[in-house]
Parts: sequence; C-alpha cells; structure tokens
Amino acid sequence: ICRGFSSSAVRAVVIKHVTIIGGGQMGSGIAQVAASTGHSVTLVDTSEDILKKSVKTIEGSLRRVVKKKFADKPEAGEEYVQKVLKNVSTSSDAGSAAQGTDLVLEAIVENLQVKQDLFSHLDKLAPAHTIFASNTSSLSISDIASSTSRLDRFGGLHFFNPVPMMKLVEVCGTSATSQETFDSLMNFSKELGKTPVSCKDTPGFIVNRLLVPYILEAYHLHERGHGSKEDVDIAMKLGAGYPMGPFELSDYIGLDTIKFILDGWRVMDPNNPSFAPSELLNKLVAEGKLGKKTGEGFYKYK
Ligand code: 3HC
Repeated sequence: ICRGFSSSAVRAVVIKHVTIIGGGQMGSGIAQVAASTGHSVTLVDTSEDILKKSVKTIEGSLRRVVKKKFADKPEAGEEYVQKVLKNVSTSSDAGSAAQGTDLVLEAIVENLQVKQDLFSHLDKLAPAHTIFASNTSSLSISDIASSTSRLDRFGGLHFFNPVPMMKLVEVCGTSATSQETFDSLMNFSKELGKTPVSCKDTPGFIVNRLLVPYILEAYHLHERGHGSKEDVDIAMKLGAGYPMGPFELSDYIGLDTIKFILDGWRVMDPNNPSFAPSELLNKLVAEGKLGKKTGEGFYKYK
C-alpha cells in the first residue's frame, strides 16, 4: 500500500477506505458496491435521519442482490448482508470523515458553488495522499477542483443508476490530474467490479452527452404529436434494444436532474438544438412531478 507521496517514486494510491458524501440514490449505491467489494466506507450526509434512510436503501438493495446470488442458501445470504453492512459507517460530519480516508467521493446536489465549498473545506482536513473525486453528471471537474490545492489528486468518477446493476464508471482526469491519481481511480473502479472508461473533462462526459440529447429529442417528437409516450418507449425497447424507453428512463433518473443538466448546458451553448427547451419537461418539473421518486412524472407510480 502506498500512502502519501515520496519524491523518489510516486505510485498510485490503493484505495481501501472511501468517504462518500451524499446519502441519496447515487451515494448509497456507490457505498453499497464499495462495501460489497471489501472497502471500508463512511457515508456522510447532513442528518442522522437521512443516513438511516440511506442504510435502509442499501439493505433493501442488498437483499435484492442476495435473493438471486444466494437463491437456495438464505442463511448465507443474510450473513452476506450483515457482513457488507459492517463495512459501512455513517457520519454527519464530513470534516472528520475526511480524516484518514484514501478517497473522498461526492454525490451531492448538482451545484458548482456547493461542491466547491465542500471540497475547499475538506482540502484543509484530509490527509495529503487523499484523492478527491466528484460524481457530477454535468459540471466541469476542473471548475470543482479549482477550490482545492490538490489539483493533481482530483478527478471525476461518474456512476450510473442503479449503481449496483450498472457496470460502467466514467473516469475523468483533467489536464492537472496526475497519472497516479488517474490510475488509482481506474483501479478502484475495477475493484468495484465495474468497467471503467476514460473521459475528457467535457460536459456530460460520454454517456450523458449522448443520452440527454436523445431523451430530449424524444420529448420534442412527442410534443410535435409524432408519437405517444407509450409508443415511443415500446419502440425504443423493442426496436433498439434499450432496457427502458426515454420517458420511463427520464422518470427513473428524475426530471429535475434532466432539466438541471439541460439548463446548464444551454447557458454554455445557447444555440445548440440538442439542448433546446422542452415545454413538457418544464411544466412537469414546475408541478413537482419529478418522476418515480415523487410518485409521478411522465407516468404515475404506486
Ligand atoms: N439494487 C439491486 N438490484 C437491483 C436494483 C437495485 N437498485 N435494481 C434492479 N435490480 C436487479 C434486481 O435483481 C431485480 O430483480 P428483483 O426485482 O427481483 O429484485 C432485477 O435487477 C431486475 O429488475 P427489474 O425487474 O425491476 O427490471 P429490469 O429487468 O428492467 O432491470 C434496470 C432494471 C437494471 C434498472 C434496467 O431497466 C436498466 O438497465 N435500465 C436502464 C438504466 C439506465 O439507463 N441507467 C442510466 C441512467 S443515466 C445515469 O444514471 C447518469 C446520471 O448522471 C443521470
């Protein structure tokens, strides 16, 4: 294990302990996968109530995993759940959680200032060898990193929902990210059982830069009266082999997230038709119909 940087040989940090800031869907999912692969995890959020919910989410998702993995050995399955949960601790104090960790990964609100404030604070408290990473879906990693003094130890680590199921991680190095940091993030992704791809620090990396305009095009097609939501979803599932159609997937991701990404990109590139506003999306978000998590989005949920 290489902890810290020596002047003679700088090697990739082996990530054993990870601090995840943000106990939402993404943060909980990442915590689950890291804990399942033998990492010590501290999950951080602002209140004990939120953290209790996050642990419940992890437990529920682990039970779905073991139902299949230990189909005929329920006792071994329960043992596995308890063993994984033991690897997860929680904290409402990000500062103390950042001390003695190898990686701080944030999955908090998509707001540049909030992310910068968080990392600027933790930069003063975390050990020198600790790598910082963001799970941002649309913001610039360089912009987030600029609030810290560890530009060489900062990168993007972008997961997909549902994290326990989706095999991909996008690993993003900026022009200042060191090769050692990039290697550590690639290795960590592989240790989690994921397949990493290397991305440049461009809006949406690879997946969201292709997926979000596709989803938006589906809204526009529907708004023009060229297909019902149901037919568009069936068409893309059965005609293109996607596991979910664009409307179903939007509800799954969260319409607020999609709107946030599009609004941000439109500011950067106002005339790009791939980012043109959708009245339907704006209306649903204004009504608080944000998808599965609120019980209604394009579709209604029980
Ligand atoms: N935890 C554990 N297991 C899960 C799970 C979770 N959260 N979600 C699904 N599973 C597993 C379970 O084993 C489940 O079986 P169960 O219902 O008996 O427990 C099994 O998957 C099958 O699930 P479903 O029957 O609910 O449905 P599907 O077969 O359609 O699979 C899916 C679900 C994996 C979510 C699939 O529909 C899919 O791949 N959808 C597309 C997801 C996608 O595109 N995600 C990327 C979004 S973009 C993003 O995240 C980036 C961000 O920056 C915006």
